[in-house]
Amino acid sequence: MDWEPLIEAAWQVRERAHAPYSKFHVGAALLAGGQVFTGCNVENLSYGLTLCAERVAVGTAIAAGLKTIEAVVVVADTAVPVSPCGACRQVLAEFGDPWICLANRKERLVFRLSELLPRASAGILDLPE
Ligand code: THU
Repeated sequence: MDWEPLIEAAWQVRERAHAPYSKFHVGAALLAGGQVFTGCNVENLSYGLTLCAERVAVGTAIAAGLKTIEAVVVVADTAVPVSPCGACRQVLAEFGDPWICLANRKERLVFRLSELLPRASAGILDLPE
């Protein structure tokens, strides 16, 4: 997996983050159907309405007609790479089991979504044998 184009796209879109409250700017880029889709976090005065960068990126891909997400990059200028919140993990799981690369300015960590959110597709009654 060549992460470079996605990482570059994520840093670029991070510039557009609307984060006047937390001042925490996040960029996300994902690969779906060979195309790159991006998102940044979009905060709101009513804090709970904030959209994470990952979910904004998912929205752009789905609105473009894609249904399967193959890879996701999340970038932030932090000491340790940030990882998607539980809500974003669940939303991503709707569209596949993508590789996920978490990056800061100097480090990259790669996971499979199913490592970050095990048994996402199991129904509540679908218990292990
Ligand atoms: N945030 C993201 O956009 N993605 C993450 O993976 C972590 C958190 C945003 C939400 C909020 O705007 C700010 O970062 C602080 O939590």
